[in-house]
Amino acid sequence: MADQLIIFDTTLRDGEQSPGASMTRDEKLRIARQLERLKVDVIEAGFAASSNGDFECIKAIAEVIKDSTVCSLARANDRDIARAAEALAPAKSGRLHLFLATSALHMEKKLRMTPDQVFEQAKQSTRYARNLMDNIEFSPEDGYRSDPDFLCRVLEAVIAEGATTINVPDTVGYAVPELYGQFIKNLRERIPNSDKAVWSVHCHNDLGMAVANSLAGVMLGGARQVECTINGLGERAGNCSLEEIVMAIKTRKDYFGLEVGIDTKQIVAASRMVSQTTGFVVQPNKAVVGANAFAHASGIHQDGVLKARDTYEIMRAEDVGWSANKIVLGKLSGRNAFKQRLQDLGVSMESEADVNAAFARFKELADRKSEIFDEDILALVSDESVAQGVEQYGFVSLSQRSETGERPQASIVMTVDGVEARSDSDGNGPVDASLKAIEKQVKSGAEMVLYSVNAISGSTESQGEVTVRLQNSGRVVNGVGADPDIVVASAKAYLSALNKLHSKSDRVAAQG
Ligand code: KIV
Ligand code: ZN
Repeated sequence: MADQLIIFDTTLRDGEQSPGASMTRDEKLRIARQLERLKVDVIEAGFAASSNGDFECIKAIAEVIKDSTVCSLARANDRDIARAAEALAPAKSGRLHLFLATSALHMEKKLRMTPDQVFEQAKQSTRYARNLMDNIEFSPEDGYRSDPDFLCRVLEAVIAEGATTINVPDTVGYAVPELYGQFIKNLRERIPNSDKAVWSVHCHNDLGMAVANSLAGVMLGGARQVECTINGLGERAGNCSLEEIVMAIKTRKDYFGLEVGIDTKQIVAASRMVSQTTGFVVQPNKAVVGANAFAHASGIHQDGVLKARDTYEIMRAEDVGWSANKIVLGKLSGRNAFKQRLQDLGVSMESEADVNAAFARFKELADRKSEIFDEDILALVSDESVAQGVEQYGFVSLSQRSETGERPQASIVMTVDGVEARSDSDGNGPVDASLKAIEKQVKSGAEMVLYSVNAISGSTESQGEVTVRLQNSGRVVNGVGADPDIVVASAKAYLSALNKLHSKSDRVAAQG
């Protein structure tokens, strides 16, 4: 039997550390459920000690996820570890992930600790963690830039204290494939008890080599766990992308000879969900999940694919979850068809009342738009928490007037903590006027650092999906809104970003 490769997804932790990618509790829960459907082995749900919000998210995820191990990151100190263990208490299967920097640069400049102090702390904290839980992962942060002799000393000690997984991060994306693979091989050969732990790779994509480095860590180094994220989301240029590494292992099984437990048909739904939740658009030519990944424009290629698909395709679009027929529902579709479609898209609703609310919104949309695409449905359910009225600011209605040569005017009716409020403004254009009207009411003082509009399903009849990125007091959040009217979509996106700004307290960064 082929070796099994453990897929450790960190979209909800390292992914969420991308500037602007912060997610609400409901969004994280929805993504965690999709990761479980995808059958990832481990879901890193967050960093419990970084904020009360993260603690609550991890706890909520630990309560509902049954088929994947739920993991929390923790700095290698007793307080962080205890907090992470508390958040993971309800998990059927939980893992504590400890990290402590080991490179000379990080120890001296960031931690201001000597190597001996770091060694002791790594040992003590692993011992403490192992008393709370059996499943312990240890990551020497900036491991790839650490002195191999020192790393061997630390890793041997933490394995002796009971660490069950050793993860070797290329924290700053500096590695190249062959050297990274050799680095891990060398550690495994030199550390006498290395066979007592599973070895893991965690590569950042600063030089665009995260997937290649991870594969080298597996093939040359003998690692059997890969840490990755949906769409390659993550700090700076991101992490190793789950969909790319999984499809590489599957498609080139002849070479890699490894098994992964992933249900690849859930990949596209996961990618869309993460993209729509965070507002990080997937580039069209992105491998596996980009809109063009299976599109053939040239006549020669089209002709070849029609005659025999494998002339130009090495994977089948349907195997990664692209549905052949993208038009799904319309005005006459019933509740059962809608519910079935939600299931096909991997969206699970907590109660029948939630399905009813989403169906009512679907009907409203179908009145305005004749064909409803999968993307429209996903956008509808991304707006779910707003629809449920659980947010501080809610959208009620918008009217705006613009005419050539006149300054546009907008009038918004919104809810603030459930109470309706109305506000008017003018602006340079209808979107500007609408957002200024909201700002007049909310007075957030936030700076807008990004505004982008995307046609969800590619025609003028489609819904506009707007992403707004706001920055306030050093915090950056993205809000996403969808509507056939792009001015309304913009107002929804702005309100969603404001809700995120208000819902999260300051957090500690993992690579601070
Ligand atoms: O990149 C990194 O070093 C990390 C660790 C916290 C594992 O994300
Ligand atoms: Zn990382």
